[in-house]
Amino acid sequence: MTTITDPAVLDRLADWQAKLRREFPIIAGNPGMAYLDSAATAQKPAAVLDAVNDFLTSDNANVGRGSYPWATSTTTRIEQARDRVRKALGDDGADSSVEFVSGTSAGLRAVAQDWLAEVLTNGDEIIVPFGDHQSNLAPWLDLRADLARRGVRIAVKSMPVDAASGDYDHRALPALMNTRTKFVAATHVHHVFGADMNVHRIREVVGPEVPICLDAAQSVGHGPVSVADLDVDFVVFSGHKMMALPGIGAVWARNRRGPRFVQQGWSGTPNTAGIVSMAAAFDWLDMVGPADVRAWNSALCARLTDGLSRLDGVQVLGCQNSLSADSPVQRRESIVTFRHRRVRSDDLGFVLADEGIMVRADSHCQAGRDTEDHAVRVSVHVYNTPAEIDRLLAVVGRCERMQS
Ligand SMILES: Cc1ncc(COP(=O)(O)O)c(C=O)c1O
Repeated sequence: MTTITDPAVLDRLADWQAKLRREFPIIAGNPGMAYLDSAATAQKPAAVLDAVNDFLTSDNANVGRGSYPWATSTTTRIEQARDRVRKALGDDGADSSVEFVSGTSAGLRAVAQDWLAEVLTNGDEIIVPFGDHQSNLAPWLDLRADLARRGVRIAVKSMPVDAASGDYDHRALPALMNTRTKFVAATHVHHVFGADMNVHRIREVVGPEVPICLDAAQSVGHGPVSVADLDVDFVVFSGHKMMALPGIGAVWARNRRGPRFVQQGWSGTPNTAGIVSMAAAFDWLDMVGPADVRAWNSALCARLTDGLSRLDGVQVLGCQNSLSADSPVQRRESIVTFRHRRVRSDDLGFVLADEGIMVRADSHCQAGRDTEDHAVRVSVHVYNTPAEIDRLLAVVGRCERMQS
């Protein structure tokens, strides 16, 4: 397998990375353990933990509910965090909004229930991904059922995918479009294949009017994500995957195509500590350099795919020949998933865990995938090292030799 990532990146950034790695208490405190499951949840740098501690031990109060100093400073922190999200997404739009939610799943559901439900009328159509994360399919199918109970029938079409590459197939998309197409949902980086799904091509195909909702759970916090470059209408992501606390996420809405996005109902007290952690995680990522974070993670993935390609029984899933005009082989952001033809993925997961290497071996919450259809997913972040990748390759190689 060929990769487009320059392995020299790992040498160039080695000192930078070694310093960053020491900033993660859980990593520094467990030197024998290799955490390679960051697509499930990322570890937190001390700067994030300190920011939460500082908030809870200096001026913690409820938000928007009091006029005493701690209450007003908490409210200010939360408003500043909204601006922090906008800045992190490269947004200088006057009409945009940021709503805090508990994570990507809740955020996509809010877009479906609180916004799309108001937009669709009888006979409308939407196009959504049937092979991505369950969280980016269930809300749209549930919405179809809810609307049908109210007598509004909509069609939900499957975003076409090119089987060989795993890319969205922008060449097949026009055949699905018509004047009733009112909404498209897509994923920025695939949570199983690690593929950058080249979503800019979707806008080129669907034209300037159709709102696009982006599941950015695996891209925000892994490199630069810019709504100035991506002409999408919603960006939804989870804090815990971008080094903030669990239980917080955000929906960024452009608010130019269709009504303004507003969460319905009384949402009660938000996760203030989570919001503070998310702002701190963005600050930290900005300080270390999102472009270098992406380069490091891609180079680790390239080292892994190159090593796996030298093992006889291994099949790496997805991301083979990209349909992208500007890259002959699709870039893997920070995720590589593979199977071994002779060793069960679950067994590989156990053997790796025995060696202190933490990966995920299951069906990865992928919509449409049989729950018995398991594969090993290795997902890296900036605290991971080439040595950890080599350790994993050595263990997989040993399993392979035992089977042959
Ligand atoms: C692409 C993608 N979308 C959505 C989700 C759901 O995120 P959360 O569990 O934080 O709601 C995940 C989680 O793995 C994901 O990878």
